[in-house]
Amino acid sequence: MEKTEFIWLNGKLVKWADAKVHVLSHALNYGTGVFEGIRVYQTPKGPAIFRLKDHARRLVDGCAMMGIDLVFDGKQYDYESVMKAIKDAVRANKNTDYVKPCIFLSGEEVGLNPVGVPASFAITCINMGAYLGKDADNGIKLITSSWQRPDYLCGPAGAKVNGSYVASCLAKREAIRQGANEAVMLNREGHVAECTGENLFMFKHGKIFTPAVGESILQGVTRGSIIQVAKDLGYEVVETAVTRFELTTADEVWLTGTAAEVAPVTSVDGRVIGNGKPGKISKAIHAEFRKIATGEDHKYDIWLDYVN
Ligand SMILES: Cc1ncc(COP(=O)(O)O)c(C=O)c1O
Repeated sequence: MEKTEFIWLNGKLVKWADAKVHVLSHALNYGTGVFEGIRVYQTPKGPAIFRLKDHARRLVDGCAMMGIDLVFDGKQYDYESVMKAIKDAVRANKNTDYVKPCIFLSGEEVGLNPVGVPASFAITCINMGAYLGKDADNGIKLITSSWQRPDYLCGPAGAKVNGSYVASCLAKREAIRQGANEAVMLNREGHVAECTGENLFMFKHGKIFTPAVGESILQGVTRGSIIQVAKDLGYEVVETAVTRFELTTADEVWLTGTAAEVAPVTSVDGRVIGNGKPGKISKAIHAEFRKIATGEDHKYDIWLDYVN
């Protein structure tokens, strides 16, 4: 990760090193925050934020679910002003390819009661590059994690709540320890849910399958984009329950996420997927996705928010 110059904090641009919170902030101790990860692509018309409206919607909805009021330093924010703040942060920093807005209970508090604890809004811009490593396009290795994807009874599975990511961190560590790049997390039913920070797709019997929204997944913004792109390319996409058996015996498997973009999978738990090389369907979908995100294909210009 490469740092940038400024972090947008509660309405002000502060130097990276000066963006600090107290050790007793509620979010640090209890995970009471909501965040997003958003990509910025270079286009012929300058930097563009990919699907800003959808990410801002999920962020604001997540805060509503957590009961976090959008009041920072006494100023009330809403969906529109959250989007404007994200744009301002990107505009202030050169070389941004990834933005991480985070709204969290920053007030100093001991005890679980979040009611009345003041919140802060931080927007960090970085240069991330390839999240799963520069060789990810050649195929990544997955393991199946022993940790379960937290479901709807454990918290708002449809929002990116800071505290919910403990299971993802445990699973990611498990994957790295076993020499893999990512971990598949199963849901309470034992079905394939998703990876630690990505949704999962597979191609089998001539169709594309991906775990349905009810399978304890995050309804990824990239997932939605890839479903649309795949349908436009003429593929049938089925959102359903996916088992480990189906995943392991698929012809192609790939991950989607804002950070990972589209990452082909070449093995799961040491079993080779397809011919052990990135599949042609995920490659074609990825190529089309990149054209759209970088403004080369104008079909989904509505997904781009130009910064300048
Ligand atoms: C658990 C989880 N699943 C899936 C995704 C992919 O979602 P998106 O495409 O919106 O980045 C993410 C990343 O945000 C995630 O954290």
